[in-house]
Amino acid sequence: MTLSTKAKDAYYYSDGWHQASSTYQISNPATGELLAEVANCGPDEAAKAAAIAWDSFNSWKQKTAFERSEILMRWFDLMMANQEELARTMTLEMGKPIKESRGEVAYAAGFVKWYAEEAKRVYGETMPAHLAHKRLFAIKQPVGPVYGVTPWNFPSAMVTRKAAPALAAGCSFILKPAEHTPLSALYLAELWEAAGGPPGTLQILPCEDPVPLSETLMADPRIRKVTFTGSTEVGRILYKQSAQTIKKISLELGGHAPYLVFADADLEKAIPEVIACKYRNAGQTCVCTNRIYVHSAIMEAFSEKYAAAASELKVGDPLDDNTDIGPLVDAQGFAKVQEHIQDALSKGAKIITGGKALSGLYFEPTVLSQISDDMKLMNEETFGPVAPLISFETDEEAIQMANNTPYGLAAYLYTNDLSRAFKVSEALEYGIVGVNDGLPSTPFVPFGGVKQSGLGREGGHWGIEEYLEVKYISMGLPK
Ligand code: SIN
Repeated sequence: MTLSTKAKDAYYYSDGWHQASSTYQISNPATGELLAEVANCGPDEAAKAAAIAWDSFNSWKQKTAFERSEILMRWFDLMMANQEELARTMTLEMGKPIKESRGEVAYAAGFVKWYAEEAKRVYGETMPAHLAHKRLFAIKQPVGPVYGVTPWNFPSAMVTRKAAPALAAGCSFILKPAEHTPLSALYLAELWEAAGGPPGTLQILPCEDPVPLSETLMADPRIRKVTFTGSTEVGRILYKQSAQTIKKISLELGGHAPYLVFADADLEKAIPEVIACKYRNAGQTCVCTNRIYVHSAIMEAFSEKYAAAASELKVGDPLDDNTDIGPLVDAQGFAKVQEHIQDALSKGAKIITGGKALSGLYFEPTVLSQISDDMKLMNEETFGPVAPLISFETDEEAIQMANNTPYGLAAYLYTNDLSRAFKVSEALEYGIVGVNDGLPSTPFVPFGGVKQSGLGREGGHWGIEEYLEVKYISMGLPK
């Protein structure tokens, strides 16, 4: 199966495929060429989608968990059967190296499989009653129609990380995919339809300007839950808007991940972990390390080996199997990387390797030293292939520097000392800690942040709870 011309050609997916009255263009960041003319949905499509989501929710929730599970399992099979085509779509629309895109499809499908299984384990509870004639129960029910907003950096996995638990729980789901990456989402909808997903249960509304569409759905009382992955700034707006109709909300927001490399680390093993953590997806993930703290005793050896490993990464055509780093997603992302480097250099930073823009949207993997706290890259996500190295003397100092941020998504450390591994992990104010592990993400674990990095958890058995309400039933027996 390949992505139908419909999905590429100004159609959106609702209770079937519909043509939008207006369109917008998306381009391939690797070449700048026009990739597709896609549907540009607005408030009218959003209002229709809310009504469809309400109707489909009322029938989808009546299906047994076993019926929903079977459809999700077929969706998983179809995703894996179309892995190559889905991966290629993703690479074309956002520039992710093809080997990483294949990995992302498996990651995305992993959420679908996990929640196909988890659908059957939404258990209730019984409580001992305080009166002899009463029986007390708690049951779990789907929260209702869900509005999801997903980012461009994981065009498939962030869709299934939200839609799969929602659909498994019995909710209907309206997705606004990122402006840059609607094709992967539309492709997933085609596969959902082919798997037997009932019309209206999963709707995909691409759009160029999300504000009017989003405002319509946020104001609609039939939408009972909103789930968002993206910037803290937009998360704050959705959090405020959700107050109008008291929607349940999950937010996976920005990060500013520290990596602490202690003096006892085995550098041969530590460096590949820190490299993978930093340069995955050209540094464009919320959990990529943004600040690398290295004990002063090993700083010289670390920076030499780390810079050598970074400069060996192959930058180039993301469709090439050997490419490690593709283009940045757009001119705005590219300008931010340049701005962070220029700002750091103007405040005294030194380039150990890289530092230069290449042609198009490509950027050299960069390592910087002589870093100070007032630099932009020490205060916000760079979202690019830039690694600042900072030294520390004591564990306490490293923890204090790592926690000195309003963000709290992911943090990492490398050590051979078990007691240090426990103490530092517990002291880090983050939702996720990778100990000697630069790539901790997988579908069955709790993913999410603390502080201004978000609310709620996605993945594992925690993920489905976000789409369920608890209902208490008190039953009096005739006395
Ligand atoms: C993200 O960048 O938001 C997701 C990263 C992941 O799932 O590993």
